[in-house]
Amino acid sequence: MSSQTERTFIAVKPDGVQRGLTSQILSRFEKRGYKLVAIKLIKADDKLLEQHYAEHVGKPFFPKMVSFMKSGPILATVWEGKDVVKQGRTILGATNPLASAPGTIRGDFGIDLGRNVCHGSDSVESAEREINLWFKKEELIDWESNQAKWIYE
Ligand code: RTP
Ligand code: MG
Repeated sequence: MSSQTERTFIAVKPDGVQRGLTSQILSRFEKRGYKLVAIKLIKADDKLLEQHYAEHVGKPFFPKMVSFMKSGPILATVWEGKDVVKQGRTILGATNPLASAPGTIRGDFGIDLGRNVCHGSDSVESAEREINLWFKKEELIDWESNQAKWIYE
């Protein structure tokens, strides 16, 4: 059972930041009713990316992906709400933008696999791990949204 306090890690990758897509991406999560609990612009280093993408270390595309992810700032965010991990992946679209439905972020803004604009945690466990990796405890803001009663019944 997913709770209203479920959290996910969503990042706008360097291509999304360079292309001025950050506000539109944030807006999709805000409008859906999810609550922003952490946000920062960050330049990732090898160590952070090797930990973040630990499951992909050693794969042929890994060096190219890391160099792309280091090429500019990343907008790191944490969102909270019911089923946010799974819904977040749906909002992002399929890994390959060409396979993503229109209306998703990747389906609306991307073409190539290595320029797919955004990252989203793929499970509740990954989300917890990634949030702890990218944010310090004190950067996660505890606040009550006045909208909650208009979003949840
Ligand atoms: P992400 O972790 O970035 O949210 O993407 P994802 O879960 O949809 O896909 P994942 O399998 O975790 O792959 C991570 C990122 O690596 C790049 N990739 N390139 N064969 C390739 O060249 C290849 N495969 C994956 C993509 O940019 C993907 O988002
Ligand atoms: Mg992934």
